[in-house]
Amino acid sequence: MAPVYTNSNGQPIPEAFATQRVGEHGPLLLQDFNLIDSLAHFDRERIPERVVHAKGSGAYGVFEVTDDITDIVGSAFLDTVGKKTRTFTRFSTVGGESGSADTARDPRGFSTKFYTEEGNLDLVYNNTPVFFLRDPSKFPHFIHTQKRNPETHLKDANMFWDYLTSNEESAHQVTILFSDRGTPKSYREMNGYSGHTYKWSNKKGDWHYVQVHFITEQGNKTLNNEEAGELAGSNPDYAQEDLFKNIAAGNFPTWTCYIQTMTQEQAKKAPFSVFDLTKVWPHADYPLRRFGKFTLNENPKNYFAEVEQAAFSPAHTVPYMEPSADPVLQSRLFSYADTHRHRLGPNYTQIPVNCPVAGRVYNPHMRDGAMNVNGNLGATPNYLATSNPIEFRDYKYQEEQEVWHGAATPFHWKATEKEFDQPRELYKVLAKYPNQQAHLAHNVAVHVSAADASIQDRVFAYFTKIHPDLGAAIKKETLELSPRK
Ligand code: HEM
Repeated sequence: MAPVYTNSNGQPIPEAFATQRVGEHGPLLLQDFNLIDSLAHFDRERIPERVVHAKGSGAYGVFEVTDDITDIVGSAFLDTVGKKTRTFTRFSTVGGESGSADTARDPRGFSTKFYTEEGNLDLVYNNTPVFFLRDPSKFPHFIHTQKRNPETHLKDANMFWDYLTSNEESAHQVTILFSDRGTPKSYREMNGYSGHTYKWSNKKGDWHYVQVHFITEQGNKTLNNEEAGELAGSNPDYAQEDLFKNIAAGNFPTWTCYIQTMTQEQAKKAPFSVFDLTKVWPHADYPLRRFGKFTLNENPKNYFAEVEQAAFSPAHTVPYMEPSADPVLQSRLFSYADTHRHRLGPNYTQIPVNCPVAGRVYNPHMRDGAMNVNGNLGATPNYLATSNPIEFRDYKYQEEQEVWHGAATPFHWKATEKEFDQPRELYKVLAKYPNQQAHLAHNVAVHVSAADASIQDRVFAYFTKIHPDLGAAIKKETLELSPRK
């Protein structure tokens, strides 16, 4: 049977499109709640879009443990091979608005929420294993230079390269971004990386530094600059369409999950800091160890309810998984829930897509607030005290831990020439793939040819520090595209 049309208080309305007027063509009446209800709700349809990662696509799935890693981590959802956990994943681009093109040259966000029996675990990753910065105070500056010029409201190559060449710790991520890896073919055909170092511990109290990798089973495929540009015009929602249609057709994408681990002793000897988000851990020294796989097998029924309202945070974690002292990760622990309270309200975890599995939340002092819709814990006392007994679950078995000493110190983790070592290695690796070194130079040249000559010169110097051949190739093509007078 077709549903009965009502207004928002459930009153059946005989004619949806009729408006109450004085006579058939006279002015409208304020008493017409059907009309006012509709218009007022329409006026409020938009919520703030995410300040970054505004354009995205999502799907539900299932994670399965394939290999035992209980020697590394004691979390319940990983305690048995074959155990399954429901997930929700959101992919995104970073800099553009919610209507921007899916094939833009940009990192891709790769966030997965695991609805575990010990609460929601959010792994809020990117498709690149490193990032542009390691001083979190730079993040708003950096992001502004990738967005629109405050005067012209245009994307601005001068702002973009002015920032990046002034902050040379960006060189590794910029090299990835301007290779064809900066334009993944689709969300299904890309990897995900924690980038950050985390601290995982087992039930005996042994702990390791850990990095996580999700490797696509669809093959890691990329577009070249021209293919990506063409798709941005002809089908800006290309990645959304690809993900939705493949899942709808039963062609479920899967990723295999791996960790890299380091003991504290290994970390002390490593040639880079494990808290430096601009560095990778070479696989030869820190081999990948498989622990699971996940499959996306269910499209959301409603984009706004489930994808737009999804709220991920690196601070949403589970027992035995902790953040490391990586300063960017530490800052992200604050920033995400802060922006969710702004974007979705203080009760954002009551929205079904964000809700931990039934019965997991009990914190009786966190009550009331805008859009409290889950019964608000009924008559339960709204404080903890002797007459409101509660069970605490102790999982802090770690006895040996990092110990931090020191005076409160302002510290800027400035770039040195070492920042160019890993991008130089990557540049050499690109030689193994047909045309990939040439594409890197071409992709930079096309972009930087829109910048002023003085900024272009800084870009040539920046890439020359990675490799003289790369700097020369970029300079040659840039000057062909934007000849100097
Ligand atoms: C989204 C802040 C670095 C991955 C966001 C959002 C904020 C934010 C405010 C919007 C969240 C929302 O409205 O729902 C920051 C800050 C950073 C930082 C302050 C550094 C200081 C990173 C890094 C990664 C990352 C290093 C990856 C390793 C993501 C992803 C999303 C996101 C995947 C999209 C989440 C979604 O799908 O809803 N970030 N971010 N961010 N960030 Fe970051």
